[in-house]
Amino acid sequence: MTAYFQIDGVPIPFESGQTIMDAALAAGQYIPHLCHNPEFRPHGSCRVCTVRADGRFVAACTFPASEGAKVECASDELRELRNGLLQMLFVEGNHVCPGCEKSGACQLQAVAYYCEMLAPELPHFFPRRHVDASHPDLAIDYGRCILCELCVRASREVDGKSIFAIGGRGIKAHLLVDSPSGKLGDTDMSVHDKAAHVCPVGAILIKHRGYDRPIGQRLYDQRPVSVVGDVIQAEETRDD
Ligand code: SF4
Ligand code: FES
Repeated sequence: MTAYFQIDGVPIPFESGQTIMDAALAAGQYIPHLCHNPEFRPHGSCRVCTVRADGRFVAACTFPASEGAKVECASDELRELRNGLLQMLFVEGNHVCPGCEKSGACQLQAVAYYCEMLAPELPHFFPRRHVDASHPDLAIDYGRCILCELCVRASREVDGKSIFAIGGRGIKAHLLVDSPSGKLGDTDMSVHDKAAHVCPVGAILIKHRGYDRPIGQRLYDQRPVSVVGDVIQAEETRDD
């Protein structure tokens, strides 16, 4: 017999071992998320997927689904929490959407639109972070990294290269590249690696093809992130 829990009153079937996120996405019920991608093991760091399960705040991408659980996702309280987290991500980095090559295909931007966040209300930090353009086919703009660790997981689990890691803690946390110089150009990373295609923002970019889609034809111009999702984004970018 199929087991169910509820999200905002909607019954969601699930199988043993699935998280709230797994079951919700499989049932076509979108829960905003950034560090989660169904192709990788959950990481639970961004907290954008926070829901209330039987009254407790939990990360939907790591918390197991359970029979009869009542999960809230769309309450005003959770919207406020989610918007606060998104605002922090925008002001902590340098996300200048109008000039970013990933604009229109950026998951942070798309999730913020989905959550109806039009402009950050917090002061921007404007951190001084560099761009690494040392690789012939790829660039890293550290000012846009949201530390989701998707590139870390992709490089380790799919590409078998472990090129990326996160160093430091708290506000000092930052993306590291494993090469003697710390530059991407001194690694064996290839443009065909999975890690080159999973960045949800414009931090890891493929060179020579920026702004290749006009406004109106970009990934999230056509359909919102709740419909497009992230797997398609990764595949579409990879196959171009
Ligand atoms: Fe995530 Fe992109 Fe930063 Fe890697 S570079 S941790 S994929 S935001
Ligand atoms: Fe669940 Fe980031 S998507 S914590």
